[in-house]
Amino acid sequence: MWNERYSGAEYVYGTEPNSFLAEHAHLLAGPVLSLAEGEGRNGVFLASLGLEVHGVDQSEVGLAKAQALARSRNVTIRTEVADLGVFTPAENYYGSVVSISAHLPSTIRNRLYPLVERCLKVGGIIILEAYSEAQLARDTGGPKDLDMLMTPEKVKREFPQLEPVLLHECQREVREGAAHSGMASVIQFIGRKRAHH
Ligand SMILES: C[S@@+](CC[C@H](N)C(=O)[O-])C[C@H]1O[C@@H](n2cnc3c(N)ncnc32)[C@H](O)[C@@H]1O
Repeated sequence: MWNERYSGAEYVYGTEPNSFLAEHAHLLAGPVLSLAEGEGRNGVFLASLGLEVHGVDQSEVGLAKAQALARSRNVTIRTEVADLGVFTPAENYYGSVVSISAHLPSTIRNRLYPLVERCLKVGGIIILEAYSEAQLARDTGGPKDLDMLMTPEKVKREFPQLEPVLLHECQREVREGAAHSGMASVIQFIGRKRAHH
């Protein structure tokens, strides 16, 4: 389904970074693991700040466009075609993890998120934005599946090793390509890996 959605020449979510990520990118250290990188708008932006980026997505079509975007901006990103349902990131390796509209079913999150916590170095940061459960009632983007939508409680429960620096639900105007456009309900999360657990 994603290969098909990405098959056109246009960038479905645009070529500019997600605005929540852009606003807080100064908090990030590399290497950065970008979950569900898609067509590369976020990874390419982070690489342009001088960060080392590793973008993972199941869609080879999306990641080919990510590499094309990187070339056009004269930056380098590492991309890896992988299903996050089986992907295992290197432990204690990343300075940051980025998860923007990376909606996954709870069966996948329950396996992946403990590995995400483990892949971060102590003090490492995650920046996550996802549509909230309230978004189900809107038609401005996001999956039509409650299980794949987030709440602050789900974030807290699913990332017990991360100290929330910021965690809230808000309504915001999203203008990120034709597929994400209009007033939306989102969860925004910045978490820091604790020193002891
Ligand atoms: C809404 S798009 C967001 C893309 C990108 N993060 C952005 O903000 O532009 C969701 C992405 O999740 C990817 N994805 C969904 N399920 C996945 C899985 N199980 N493993 C890897 N990638 C997945 C899709 O291929 C798609 O690129």
